Amino acid sequence: MRVAVVGSGYVGLVTGACFADLGHEVVLVDNDEKKLEALRKGEVPIHEKFLPELLAKHRGTRIKFSGDLQAATRASDAIFIAVGTPPTESGDADMSYVESVAREISGAIEGYKVVVEKSTVPVYTNEWVRTIILRNGADPDLFDIASNPEFLREGTAVTDFLYPDRIVVGVENERAADVMRKIYDPLTSGWYYGRADAIPRPDRAQTPPRLIATSAQSAEIIKHASNAFLAMKISFINAVASICDSVGANVQQVCEGIGTDSRIGPRFLNPGIGYGGSCFPKDLLAFRAVAKEGGYDFRLLEEVIRINEEQRHRFLKKVRSVLWTLRGKRLGVLGLAFKGGTDDIRESPALLLVEELVREGCRICAYDPAAMERAKEVLPMSVEFASDAYSAAKDADAVLLLTEWEEFAALDLDRLRSVVRYPIVLDGRNLYDPAAMTAHGFSYYSIGRPAAVCEEASNGRAKKQERA
Ligand SMILES: NC(=O)c1ccc[n+]([C@@H]2O[C@H](COP(=O)([O-])OP(=O)(O)OC[C@H]3O[C@@H](n4cnc5c(N)ncnc54)[C@H](O)[C@@H]3O)[C@@H](O)[C@H]2O)c1
Repeated sequence: MRVAVVGSGYVGLVTGACFADLGHEVVLVDNDEKKLEALRKGEVPIHEKFLPELLAKHRGTRIKFSGDLQAATRASDAIFIAVGTPPTESGDADMSYVESVAREISGAIEGYKVVVEKSTVPVYTNEWVRTIILRNGADPDLFDIASNPEFLREGTAVTDFLYPDRIVVGVENERAADVMRKIYDPLTSGWYYGRADAIPRPDRAQTPPRLIATSAQSAEIIKHASNAFLAMKISFINAVASICDSVGANVQQVCEGIGTDSRIGPRFLNPGIGYGGSCFPKDLLAFRAVAKEGGYDFRLLEEVIRINEEQRHRFLKKVRSVLWTLRGKRLGVLGLAFKGGTDDIRESPALLLVEELVREGCRICAYDPAAMERAKEVLPMSVEFASDAYSAAKDADAVLLLTEWEEFAALDLDRLRSVVRYPIVLDGRNLYDPAAMTAHGFSYYSIGRPAAVCEEASNGRAKKQERA
C-alpha cells in the first residue's frame, strides 16, 4: 500500500518506519524543514530502540521524507495524521494542527483515500475532520475517515507497534475497513512474524494480533479510556504505597499479592514518583474535558491527577526527612527522562523534582543516558551535567534515582559507594533491592517500602565527617 504519515514526531516516525518494514511505500511528512533535513541526512531525532535500524534500512527506498503534504496525499491510499494535540489552558486538546492538516489534504483528494486519525483526539474529531475536508471542496465519495489510535509506549515503541496487543480501527463503512485491513494484514495474517529479519518478538507478545473494528467514536473513546485506566492503575498503586509507607508495610509484597490475581494483573503496578510524558497528563485532561462537554463530571480522573502530583511532593518530603536541610546539599541525580528508554522530557516528574530541589537551594549534578540535551534547554543554568552515573554521584550528599533506566539497574554499587560523600540513595522508582543496597553499605529509601538504613553507612559517614 502507499501510505503518507503526517507528523514525523515520536508516533509518526515509528509508524512510518514500521509500515515500511511491513512492505508499504511510505512518505513521512513534516512542516519542520530542519527536522526533514536531518532525517534526509540519516540523523534520527529521537531516542527509540530499533528506530535507527529501520530508518537506515528503508530510507530512500520504501521511506521518503517530504514537506509537501498535497503531493504526499495524491501519491497515497491512506493518510495517517500523527501531529501533536497538546493541551490548551483549559485542558482540552488543541486540535488546530489536525485541522490545518485536514484543510491542506482536501485540495489533493483526486482519487479514493482514507484519512486516518493516529493522533490522540477527542470523540467526534472524525466528524470534524470530515467536515473540514468537505468545506474545502473535496468530493464526499472520494474519501473516508478512520480512527486508528496508537498504543505504543516510548522506549519500546517499535516493538509495541509491530507486536501490538490489538489493533483498533474505527471506520464507518466496508470500503475504508478494507483499506485498513490491507495495511495491517502483514501483522494480522502473521506474515511479518515468519520473516527472518523481523524485529525480535518480545516475551509477552501474542501473535498474530487481532484487529478490532469499531465505530470511529468508539475508537476515539478506546484510546482516551485506555490511557485514563492505565494512569488510574499507577495512581492507585501510588496511593497504596503511601499507606504502606505510613503503616510500615512493603508495597512490593502488596503488588505481588494483588498483581497475581488475573483480574488485576501485575503490569502498571509500579509505585514511583508518578507518571509523566506527553500522553497521560494531557490525555487525562482532555478526557475529563470531553466528559464535561457531554454532561458527565468525571471526578475520578481529577483524583488520579491529584494523587499523581502529590506523589512528587511526597518524595520531596522524603528527601527532606532524610537530609534534614536542603540548602547547599549536593545531590547526584540519575535520570531526567519521564521514563527509561526515551529522551522525552515532556511532563517528566524527574525534571519537575530537579527544578523544585534547585529552588530549595540544592546543588544538582545530573546524568541521563539520552535526555540530557533536551533537559539542558529547560533546566536552570546552575544544574551541572555529568557524563555518567558515577560522575553525577561524585561527592554527593545523596543520590536520587528518578528514571528507571536499565543502565541504572546494572550500576556497580561498590564503585558508586566509593565516589559519594555520604552513602545515601533515595530511589523514586523502586529500582533496587533494599537488602542489596545495605549489603553494599548504602542507606536506602524507596517508595512504599521500609527504609533500609545501614549502620555501616552512618559509621562511614561519621568517619568522613571527622576527616572533613
Ligand atoms: N508520544 C507517544 O508516546 C504517543 C503515543 C500514542 C499516541 N500519541 C499521540 O500521537 C500524537 C503525536 O504525538 P507525538 O508524541 O508524536 O508528537 P510530536 O510532537 O513528537 O510530533 C508531532 C510532529 O508533527 C509535526 N507537525 C505539526 N503540525 C504539522 C503539520 N501541519 N504538517 C506536518 N507536520 C506537522 C511536528 O513538526 C512534529 O514533528 C499526539 O496526539 C499524541 O497524543 C503519542
